[in-house]
Amino acid sequence: MIFPVAILLGLTLRGAACAGDVHDAHAHEHLSKREYPQVPITPPYRPLVWGDFNVIHTTDTHGWLLGHQKVSFPEPDYSGDLGDFASFVTHMKNIAIEKDVDLLLVDSGDLHDGTGLSDGYPPGGVDAHESNKFLERLPYDVMAIGNHELYIYANTYDMYTNFVPHLDGRYLSSNVNITVFNSDGEPESVPVGNRYTKFTTRKGRRITSLGVLYDFTGNDVNTTVQTVADMVKEQWFAEAIAEEPDVFLLIGHMPVSYDNWPTVFDAVRAVHPLTPILIFGGHSHIRDCQQYDGRSMALESGRYMETIGWMSADLEAANGDANISFTRRYLDQNRVTYEYHTEMSNQTFDTAYGRSITDGLQELAVSFDLSYLYGTAPQDYTINQNPYPSNGSLLSLFIADAIPYALSINNTRDSIPSIFITNSGSQRFNIFKGPFTKNDQLTASPFTDSFLYIPNITFSIANQVLPALNNAGASERRRRDEIEKELWNRGVVDTRYRAWLEEMDRRAGMGRREAMAGNLTLGYVTADSCPGAGDDTLHLALPYYSVPDFIGSNPPNVTNDTPIDLVFVDFIEAQLLGILNGLQNAVNYTTADVLLYSPTLANVALGLYAQAEWN
Ligand SMILES: *[C@@H]1O[C@H](CO)[C@@H](O)[C@H](O)[C@H]1NC(C)=O
Ligand SMILES: *[C@@H]1O[C@H](CO)[C@@H](O)[C@H](O)[C@H]1NC(C)=O
Ligand SMILES: *[C@@H]1O[C@H](CO)[C@@H](O)[C@H](O)[C@H]1NC(C)=O
Ligand SMILES: *[C@@H]1O[C@H](CO)[C@@H](O)[C@H](O)[C@H]1NC(C)=O
Ligand SMILES: *[C@@H]1O[C@H](CO)[C@@H](O)[C@H](O)[C@H]1NC(C)=O
Ligand SMILES: *[C@@H]1O[C@H](CO)[C@@H](O)[C@H](O)[C@H]1NC(C)=O
Ligand SMILES: *[C@@H]1O[C@H](CO)[C@@H](O)[C@H](O)[C@H]1NC(C)=O
Ligand SMILES: *[C@@H]1O[C@H](CO)[C@@H](O)[C@H](O)[C@H]1NC(C)=O
Ligand SMILES: *[C@@H]1O[C@H](CO)[C@@H](O)[C@H](O)[C@H]1NC(C)=O
Ligand SMILES: *[C@@H]1O[C@H](CO)[C@@H](O)[C@H](O)[C@H]1NC(C)=O
Ligand SMILES: [Zn+2]
Ligand SMILES: [Zn+2]
Repeated sequence: MIFPVAILLGLTLRGAACAGDVHDAHAHEHLSKREYPQVPITPPYRPLVWGDFNVIHTTDTHGWLLGHQKVSFPEPDYSGDLGDFASFVTHMKNIAIEKDVDLLLVDSGDLHDGTGLSDGYPPGGVDAHESNKFLERLPYDVMAIGNHELYIYANTYDMYTNFVPHLDGRYLSSNVNITVFNSDGEPESVPVGNRYTKFTTRKGRRITSLGVLYDFTGNDVNTTVQTVADMVKEQWFAEAIAEEPDVFLLIGHMPVSYDNWPTVFDAVRAVHPLTPILIFGGHSHIRDCQQYDGRSMALESGRYMETIGWMSADLEAANGDANISFTRRYLDQNRVTYEYHTEMSNQTFDTAYGRSITDGLQELAVSFDLSYLYGTAPQDYTINQNPYPSNGSLLSLFIADAIPYALSINNTRDSIPSIFITNSGSQRFNIFKGPFTKNDQLTASPFTDSFLYIPNITFSIANQVLPALNNAGASERRRRDEIEKELWNRGVVDTRYRAWLEEMDRRAGMGRREAMAGNLTLGYVTADSCPGAGDDTLHLALPYYSVPDFIGSNPPNVTNDTPIDLVFVDFIEAQLLGILNGLQNAVNYTTADVLLYSPTLANVALGLYAQAEWN
């Protein structure tokens, strides 16, 4: 997606459309449905390799604490929930005690923005305030702040006042501050959590840990992000790393490839040439691994509770300057994975503690009315697994069907032919066959953008606007690169995540996909820079189709000279006016010609459409 404004508007205006009433019937249906995977799930193909120092990693969970509950693949691969994960962690901790080794649990941030559990709060609420209470119940050793904790001051303040105190000094924000009133009533900039922490593991290893955020610039007023390059020059940083621990455990919301981890790594290495350094990154939503040298490993563990990361190291064996033997693994987040690695059965796996977390999350879903049903989707609609345009494309469904229908309701311009245009970043997540609920709408289409129009545009001109918008994007390569960089700084990660999917699809190749179609289910097929295979379960790579920057409705069947309404999403106004004035010179179109087409916002379009068409 090209325009930052979409994301920013979406985030800042979110929350206007939350109903408060409770539909118990839906909730109970939901409860019984999610108990256990509804379809067979491929188990891992080999046990984990344990070292004497082991770490379980989550990142970019974005509210997906009830996991992925749809039956279309790859969703069942990720059908575990936070309660299942809690049971897994309990069993793994017991295994670690039996093996007499260390096992730590870490998270790299982005707890906000993603599902109804985080975003479906009633009016007056704060994003992720309730869902975070369940993360507090996991025995995290350290957690780091993400950019999604910083778009809205109220969210950061909620972290500062309610979440951070539960982590007992282990919530880390090395380069991120919040401005609050101090005891004298004066505004004061202070770290959101701790800048660093030092602690000792069960096996007596001394750990020094940092929590670093990449160079993010889209943060709200009264929050501060210091660049990574400046952070490593700070006096506190020098003091924090001066004493040599047994292990540096560097966590942070920053990708392990093509970003600034080497800056932090080099600063530590300059003082401690041989100390083991374990890095746990995030933000680009991919599975990735790097080794910056032979005594370090850097892991990134995906997104949305799809992936649980695993890293092990044999620290005792690596005396002197010998390379350390590391392993890493990307676990599919489901009960089959968890039972396999803990040698538990369906009957023995659950802990009472884990069950209570699952039950609590389901109660939260009920209180947010997340099972409220708009209709039943007849098939899957995906952003990148089907070509655009096509009848399996969510982008086609949204702009060619849902938006024209939703904006026609109570609209006096309904009878006038029109063309609708928006950006392809307008949708966040796929829709799958089956119930389409309030939770699904919040997950797929959260952005509260409005639609504007210019009346009386000749069809022959209006019909050239969409291709011209996409060509303008494609021809201005340099400007595009600048825009990409700016988007990255502001926290838009789609580009890198999609490049990852595209690469895995290309690697699979169409022929190989057919040949391997045997018993493999769809999922991630990772190739990273670390030795050996990283994925814990074998899959067939998801198909990938690229999409244009802008998408449009089907042109009306009218003659070339017919005047029509040109309808477009609000934040592309300036660019669209430029294109329109380039396509004709009869009229110099300006902001004065632009009107509001409908008070209905983009985030409710799919629900209105589902109510009308999917019942
Ligand atoms: C930022 O904080 C200062 C001091 O606390 C306050 O005066 C100001 O209104 C805040 N700005 C915003 C936009 O909240
Ligand atoms: C963050 O807070 C600390 C402690 O108040 C302060 O010394 C530092 O200057 C702040 N950093 C930034 C970048 O605002
Ligand atoms: C140690 O690891 C580094 C970096 O991974 C590698 O370049 C080097 O060949 C390794 N050395 C040995 C002796 O294996
Ligand atoms: C696990 O146990 C539950 C409850 O007894 C049952 O409904 C489910 O089918 C079982 N799943 C598997 C994979 O055996
Ligand atoms: C979508 O297109 C495919 C292939 O053209 C067709 O088989 C299928 O029936 C279509 N589905 C719908 C819902 O129109
Ligand atoms: C359309 O108008 C009716 C009657 O005023 C109202 O109940 C309904 O909510 C409106 N629908 C939309 C989508 O604005
Ligand atoms: C519509 O546009 C045409 C030229 O494009 C112009 O001649 C005509 O006056 C316009 N009509 C209205 C109602 O603005
Ligand atoms: C697929 O599964 C069936 C039944 O479990 C098995 O007999 C067959 O060998 C498998 N095929 C492949 C290609 O693994
Ligand atoms: C377009 O409109 C013309 C004239 O009304 C009609 O003959 C034709 O069948 C229509 N085409 C489609 C695809 O609806
Ligand atoms: C079009 O209108 C804008 C805003 O009034 C003005 O700045 C611009 O110079 C005009 N362009 C032409 C070609 O008249
Ligand atoms: Zn994220
Ligand atoms: Zn992020």
